[in-house]
Amino acid sequence: TINGSVYIADLPDKVGQEVSLRGWLYNKRSSGKVRFLILRDGTGLVQGVMVKGKLPETDFTAFDRLTQESSLSLEGVVRVEPRAPGGYELEVTAVHPLHVASEYPISHKEHGVDFLLNHRHLWLRSPRQQAVLRVRDEIIRACRDFFADRRFVLVDTPIFTPTACEGTTTLFETDYFGDRKAYLTQSGQLYLEAAALALGRVYCFGPTFRAEKSKTRRHLTEFWMLETEVAFADLEDIMALAEALLCAVAVRVLENRIAELTFLERPLAPLQAIRPPFPRLSYTESLKRLTAAGHQLAWGEDLGAPEETALSQMYDRPVLIHHYPKECKAFYMKPDTVDPRTVLCVDVLAPEGVGEIIGGSQREDDLEALLTRIKEHHLPQEPLEWYLDLRRYGSVPHSGFGLGIERLVTWFCGLHHVREAIPFPRLMDRLTP
Ligand code: 4AD
Ligand code: MG
Repeated sequence: TINGSVYIADLPDKVGQEVSLRGWLYNKRSSGKVRFLILRDGTGLVQGVMVKGKLPETDFTAFDRLTQESSLSLEGVVRVEPRAPGGYELEVTAVHPLHVASEYPISHKEHGVDFLLNHRHLWLRSPRQQAVLRVRDEIIRACRDFFADRRFVLVDTPIFTPTACEGTTTLFETDYFGDRKAYLTQSGQLYLEAAALALGRVYCFGPTFRAEKSKTRRHLTEFWMLETEVAFADLEDIMALAEALLCAVAVRVLENRIAELTFLERPLAPLQAIRPPFPRLSYTESLKRLTAAGHQLAWGEDLGAPEETALSQMYDRPVLIHHYPKECKAFYMKPDTVDPRTVLCVDVLAPEGVGEIIGGSQREDDLEALLTRIKEHHLPQEPLEWYLDLRRYGSVPHSGFGLGIERLVTWFCGLHHVREAIPFPRLMDRLTP
C-alpha cells in the first residue's frame, strides 16, 4: 500500500473490506440510478459501482466531470463479481477526482499506426501495450536470471566507441569535442571479449545503435541487445548456451505471463514448442533446403529476409544455422579449419517468419589471422590495438553471441512489427516522442 491505498491486483485478498484505490478512468457508463466506472492502475482493471444514496451526493455527481484518463481515487468495498472485468468490483463509497483530463486523443476505437506512434507516450497506457511491456520485462528478467544462476558476471560496456564492430555502413557518428569522431556502439562484444578474459563468463545488456536505412519490420535504429562471451568456449558450446537460454526464457514467460499472452491473442503452442534440441543446419545444408523450396541463392550470398523467413517456417522451433561463408560475416569470426571459406558462426532463426534473433560465433584468437581479417575489412588498426592485445596476452579460444531483445519480444508476443516491442521506438523516420 502507498498512503493507505492498495493496487487492483491485490483485490482478491481484500474481498469484503473497504479499500482505497488510485488510478485513471478507463471507461464509464451509467444506467438509471447506477453509475459504472472502470479504473485502471497499471496492475489491472476494476469496475466501481456507484449507487445513488450510497455515497455523498457530491461524489456521485463527480462522475459527470470525469473524462477518459482522468486521475482519481476511489474508496469502496470489494466484492466478487464474475461478470466484471478482472472478476471483482468495488461498491463505491467515495470518489475523489485528482485531475480531470482534457479530451483524450486515443479512444477505444481503432487508430492508424502513425497516429498511435505519434502518441506513443499515451498509447503505452492501453492494455495491449501494457501487456507487451510486461512480457518484455519478464523476458529481460528471465535472461538476467539465466546468466546470474550460472554465475556469469554482468559487465557493462561503453556506448561511445572509437570503432565499428558490425561493419562501417551502419555506424552512427558523433562529434567528440570537435577533435575526434565517436560512434554509438553497434555491439558490446569487443569489450565483452576483454571482460571474458578477465572474468571467464560474462554478459551485458544495453542499448545498441545501427544506422539502418532499410525500413523493415525487423529493424530499429536503437535496440537492446543481450550479449554473452565465454572464455574457452567453442562454437558448439555457445550453440548449446543459446538453446538453453531461449528454452529458459520460454519457460519463464509461460509460467508468469499467460494472462498477457492470452490478452494479446498469442497462440501458446509455438512457445510451448521451444524445447531442446533445436534443429541445426550448416549454411550449405540450408541452401539445399532453400533451393528445394524454390529460392535461388548462389553459395556465398547472405541469407536475406525472404530466405530467413522461408527457413524459419520449415521448423516448429528455433533453427540454428551455422558455418556461413566468411564474406557474409564480421571480421572477428574464426574461419573453420576444415573449410576455411566458412566461419565458426551461428544465427538462430525464430519460427513463424520472425527470422534472426541471435547472432554469434567463435572469435579469431590468433593475432596474425586477426590482423589479416582487419585489413581485409579495411578497418583501421590503430583504434583496435587494445583489442589485438587480447591476442597478445594469454589468448584463448572464446565465443559468444548477441540476442536482440525486441525481436524476441516481437516473436513471443506475436507482433507484426518490432516497433511495438520497445517503449519508444527509434526508426529511420521516427525520433519522437
Ligand atoms: O547479428 P548481430 O549483428 O551480432 C552482433 O552484433 C554480435 N556482435 C553479437 C555478439 O556476438 N556478441 O546482432 C545480434 C542480434 C541479431 O540477431 C538481432 O536479433 C538483433 O541483434 N539486431 C537487431 N534488432 C533490431 N533492430 C536491428 N537493427 C538489429 N540488428 C541486429
Ligand atoms: Mg546477425
